[in-house]
Amino acid sequence: MSDNKIQRVTIPTLLEKKKSGEKITALTAYDYPIAKIVDSEGIDVILVGDTVGMVVLGYENTIPVTMEEMIHHTKAVVRGTKRALVIGDMPYFSFHLSEEETVYNASRFLKEAGAQAVKIEGASRKRLKLIETLVDAEIPVMGHVGLTPQSIHHLGRFKVKGKDADEARRIVTDALNLEKAGVFAVILECVPMELARIVTERLQVSTIGIGAGPYCDGQILVFHDLVGFMNGYLPKFVKRYAQLHEILTQAVEAYSADVKNGKFPDDNHSYHSKSDQNLKSLLEEKEKIFSISEK
Ligand code: KIV
Repeated sequence: MSDNKIQRVTIPTLLEKKKSGEKITALTAYDYPIAKIVDSEGIDVILVGDTVGMVVLGYENTIPVTMEEMIHHTKAVVRGTKRALVIGDMPYFSFHLSEEETVYNASRFLKEAGAQAVKIEGASRKRLKLIETLVDAEIPVMGHVGLTPQSIHHLGRFKVKGKDADEARRIVTDALNLEKAGVFAVILECVPMELARIVTERLQVSTIGIGAGPYCDGQILVFHDLVGFMNGYLPKFVKRYAQLHEILTQAVEAYSADVKNGKFPDDNHSYHSKSDQNLKSLLEEKEKIFSISEK
């Protein structure tokens, strides 16, 4: 399909998919080349997640990620997409101080970075009010319940949420309240699949699961987990579709050995001068001419 015939996935497209039962595909991306791959493979939604802090910037968790970092990465992702709906993740403390600051920060994802929506973690009463305000300001919002990584210091560690009845009830209520506040979709992170099924059946808007089993309307994974970019711990819910860490390590190892052994660069990876004549004698001739004209 020619580029100008490609239509971007919209929020109504996602709502139609929910109605028809067609699964929504989503992935995170943080830069131009990966966004291009994800977009050209027809993934519906790209989330520029604040996980960028952990998988790209080397932070211990998502807390240190700033608005400037999110805008920088979202711009690169938008440049790499033609079809996917791009969502910018509101980082910790970009929506905590005031309504004005929240609307301003969210609007930057749309106005400066070119995203089509934002995502916000949590569903407290205050958060719901903020979401209503954003929706009122024409900023589409995706909700996020279950495990919310920005609450890491409250939680102590990342763990499955909603295993007991009280927590499960809370998650169902939170998701329903988010829908009432106007979100177009809800991320369900690390919840039992039986609970995700109930939430998915109760909501008119789509659920996108990560560690939430097969019954959600769509699925999302962190791109770097999917392709095995790192070789450390992986949560149970991640399926690795490639082993990039090994491939990249081998490539760097081979390059280093070739440079040390003088095998790289070889003739094929070097430029040649135009003339048949030896470059050395050409230079010597030039030098002679200059020294004559200087005298
Ligand atoms: O920041 C992120 O990448 C996310 C996904 C894990 C859903 O919130």
